[in-house]
Amino acid sequence: MRLARRALLGTPLAATALAQEPGLRALAEARGLVIGNMVTRGQLRDHPALQPLLRRDAALITPGLELKWDTLRPDPESFNFAPAEEVAAFTLAGGMDLRGHTLVWHEALPRWFDPAAMPAPQLRATLERHIRTVAGHFQGRIASWDVVNEPIGENGLRDGPHSDPDLIRQAFLWAREADPGARLVINDYDLELGDRRQDGRRTAMLRLLERLLRAGAPVGALGIQAHLAPRSAPFDAARLARFLRDVAGMGLAIEVTELDIVDRLLPADIAARDAEGAAMAADFLRVALDQPAVRMLVLWGLSDVQAWQQDSAFARRRDGLPSRSHPLDREMAKKPLWHAIAGALRA
Ligand code: G3I
Repeated sequence: MRLARRALLGTPLAATALAQEPGLRALAEARGLVIGNMVTRGQLRDHPALQPLLRRDAALITPGLELKWDTLRPDPESFNFAPAEEVAAFTLAGGMDLRGHTLVWHEALPRWFDPAAMPAPQLRATLERHIRTVAGHFQGRIASWDVVNEPIGENGLRDGPHSDPDLIRQAFLWAREADPGARLVINDYDLELGDRRQDGRRTAMLRLLERLLRAGAPVGALGIQAHLAPRSAPFDAARLARFLRDVAGMGLAIEVTELDIVDRLLPADIAARDAEGAAMAADFLRVALDQPAVRMLVLWGLSDVQAWQQDSAFARRRDGLPSRSHPLDREMAKKPLWHAIAGALRA
């Protein structure tokens, strides 16, 4: 495959055609959609080949680690913005926008911050200071902020810093005051597929959104992570379309925030694996992009060199093979997933 590509590149005509093939950014722009990608400071440094490809395929960047508490808050007193500023500099230099991820989450917390061990007034004060300082620092530079990440547990609201709906409402109000222009988002996973467990999660999310909106929280969008896991549950277009309609009916925008493929249940064979992952992404995007409230599509990594799945006890493959979760392979060549996303954008 690579040989054939090199042979092709030898002819000036073919080289021009390849260079002119529009990237995902141009395809998304043509239909009024913002397409984005996640990257970390470490990935930008370790894989410089990613940089021009991100500019080709993304109009927005989500820093993958740099806006999480464990990076921003080395101790209770200080804020370390340097890693996030490095990703922001790359982003703005490439004419891309920034997405903020995330102000309130139960993971990626520094050792000094254990929400369960903190008395309620101290927890509230700690969250308020963090949200006002971080959202205030980036004021005017963030297109949308994941104010609250993963609030849905297996039975309604998850235990942790966001188990109290009034604290969630407050978090949105603090973020709104600190950055009046950013779209404020609730972001969660396992809202995409068609089994009863995800039905339950969708229902819990709808209830939470209703409750927050009724209480006056300035929620602007629902973020659907879309870590799509083929064979973990069936895809059901009608159920997904209904859910998106229900969310849009509340007056909210919808952002797809972390699209990738969790390939742990797929066969080892690379062609079969890539084809099945790409097919699920195509099915998902056919429904998602058909809903006018879906304004943004962010991928959680462009190349397989970025695969977080390998470091996750849950998402990694049992046979030890490297995950093939992203649109480009480790050599930065386009995979069927890239073409599935491009096809969905063109449709
Ligand atoms: O960089 C250090 C490395 O120096 C060290 O040797 C190694 C040892 O564990 O850890 C490395 O840091 C890890 C980092 O990823 C970079 O690989 C952290 O331990 C690990 O916790 C961190 O995981 C990230 C995770 O969020 C927690 O922040 C994943 O990369 C990132 O993809 C994942 O992203 C989440 C979203 O925020 C929310 N939705 C789900 C998504 C996937 O889990």
